Amino acid sequence: MKILAIETSCDETALALGEKRGEKKANNFFFDFKIISQVLFSQIEIHKKWGGVYPSLAKREHQKNLLPLLSKLLGRAGLLKVRSKKTRSKSDGFKIKAIEKVLEREGKLKEKMIPFLEKHYKPEIDLIAITHGPGLEPCLWAGVNFTKALGIYWDLKIMPINHIEAHIFANWLKPISSKSKFKIQNSKSENILPAVCLVASGGHTQLILMKNFGDYKILGETLDDAAGEAFDKIAKILGLSYPGGPSIAKIAAKFKIQNSKFKIKLPRPMLYSKNYDFSFSGLKTAVLYDYKKRSQKTKKSKNYISQMAYESQKSIVEVLTKKTIRAAKELNCKSIILGGGVAANEWLKKEFGQRISESGCKINFLAPKKELCTDNAQMIALTACYYYGKKCKIKNQSQINASANLSIPK
Ligand code: KG4
Ligand code: ZN
Repeated sequence: MKILAIETSCDETALALGEKRGEKKANNFFFDFKIISQVLFSQIEIHKKWGGVYPSLAKREHQKNLLPLLSKLLGRAGLLKVRSKKTRSKSDGFKIKAIEKVLEREGKLKEKMIPFLEKHYKPEIDLIAITHGPGLEPCLWAGVNFTKALGIYWDLKIMPINHIEAHIFANWLKPISSKSKFKIQNSKSENILPAVCLVASGGHTQLILMKNFGDYKILGETLDDAAGEAFDKIAKILGLSYPGGPSIAKIAAKFKIQNSKFKIKLPRPMLYSKNYDFSFSGLKTAVLYDYKKRSQKTKKSKNYISQMAYESQKSIVEVLTKKTIRAAKELNCKSIILGGGVAANEWLKKEFGQRISESGCKINFLAPKKELCTDNAQMIALTACYYYGKKCKIKNQSQINASANLSIPK
């Protein structure tokens, strides 16, 4: 049983092929499952000059890249078989009309899709999984409409996947020896759940109580900027490149407290608020005010930039770790689970480890492999595999829509 997974919620066009092998063993969360092929095109270089993701540009890039990436993915997996001209039958008019309608707003994709489909045999795929939200609406639609067109032509069912939930599921993928391949890490739920999940990315910062797979409660979220967005905006102020998280982390690592020349103390927004919400826009404003009042010479000095990067990262990490650990303690959770691009931050993971051990509580700490923290399609394939096992969420193409503000399932 093979699942084609597609992710286009932001600035990565990502596809993966997952294969379910064997049945689910008692006590395991999942079927035996393996990622057999994956491809990703990151638009980072394209958005760099804007200092953030430009949605209509991102959508155009998805439209441009989806078909070549699908071809590469299927080719690598040995599933792309060209039909000889003789065996090519004209597609039935009804399907073509339906695909043209679905791709009405998908620009170049519409022109290229039908010839591609007619040129190849239907691959051995059983289901298509697509991120349908949350995310940037134009980007989500590019992926959703592409998936619908494939579903129509190949007569396949579609499974809509929640992007936030998939970021959490990424924790159950573990690398296998061959390069960049992943398989499921099954572990017993009684050791891990309930858990507090911190999903922090460019678009979201949420604390989620995970009672079980598919059973969540949002404990708190950002009232303004997401943590990743704060990294990106602060980096832009400091003249560092997009995405801001890795740029800030890199330069902050060079800062040595003993070389400190400037008195910089940034706020720790909402650290002591009784709820589990966050707010990061004030932090960015504090950086901006400090930056504006400095002389031109200071603004350009490595020492100032690295100290500001260090202090910004420290502030974001302190708020995220302390509030997450407080939630885990107050709700008697067995684990803290990270997900989203910000979870790639080494300082954040180190601080979690240290603070959990200092707390004296027995709390497990899970974070995905670095390449699975940022957007990818492997996590979409795995989430789809889980729901396929539960026999739910399987839909016809007409039942799928993009949903920019989709909430995690309750
Ligand atoms: O999950 P993701 O790839 O896309 C969204 O769903 O938004 O997250 C991207 C975000 C960006 O804001 C980026 O600056 C941040 O994750 N990020 C990091 C790191 N790597 C990526 N933030 C802090 N430290 C990192 N190492
Ligand atoms: Zn994401």
